[in-house]
Amino acid sequence: MIKDAFSQKKNVETKASFSDLVTETDKRVEDSLFSTIRQTFPSHCFIGEESTSAGAQCELTDRPTWIIDPIDGTTNFVHTFPFTCISIGFLVNKKAMIGIIYNPVLDDMYTARAGHGAFCNDKKIHVSGCNDYSQALLIIDTGACAKNEDIDCHYENMRRHKKHSRGIRAIGSAALSMCLVACGAADAYYEFGIHCWDMAAGVIIVEEAGGTLCGPDGSTLNILERSCLVTSSKKLAQDMVKDITIVHFPSD
Ligand code: IPD
Ligand code: CA
Repeated sequence: MIKDAFSQKKNVETKASFSDLVTETDKRVEDSLFSTIRQTFPSHCFIGEESTSAGAQCELTDRPTWIIDPIDGTTNFVHTFPFTCISIGFLVNKKAMIGIIYNPVLDDMYTARAGHGAFCNDKKIHVSGCNDYSQALLIIDTGACAKNEDIDCHYENMRRHKKHSRGIRAIGSAALSMCLVACGAADAYYEFGIHCWDMAAGVIIVEEAGGTLCGPDGSTLNILERSCLVTSSKKLAQDMVKDITIVHFPSD
């Protein structure tokens, strides 16, 4: 569905702000995934970006739960910027067991299963292992920062990272940013304002690829807390945290 619609003109609607977009394809992909998975696992719970936007409760329990973003990188999808994907995470006892992130435009399929490693198109992937901040390539997105003080805080953080790292990129998909760290193409990624459906699959892919995950303040990662820091090594996370002032968002 995403591939077919990718180069077509889309019917775009806005949600929380003029830059928070949704298309017919986001909704169709989510409906299709929910109904297909439900046929096989009728007792499982589901959290999805578009169902939550439409008023469904975003409540994560210990029960088997599928957390789905039908299109992560919707703005990219609308603009035909080719970093857009489906993100599917499966959690039990709030712990990610399976992660699948598929970019249908570039045909890259990232997968991971707890204890079984992480893969891109069936090839095993691993983080770079970089632990030297001055040699690190970072991915940092402005994300949902909209208030002036949050944007200022974000760019102050960027100013510090720019002085201490090799470079900064932004690609507009949290899930694919996490995959780029998992396969060693980037050494770290963090963002404020993302949601559990942006992170659920990426968490296990990064974990199984040997990466480090935490909150941007170095705390234990909680995917309901609207931010994450993923790095190729614990040392890099510790060094980066010193340069990060936190932007707060209400929990999912
Ligand atoms: C967005 C992407 C993007 C991030 C935004 C998210 P969406 O998700 O993950 O990288 O900067 O904050 O909302 O809306 O395209 O699913
Ligand atoms: Ca989305």
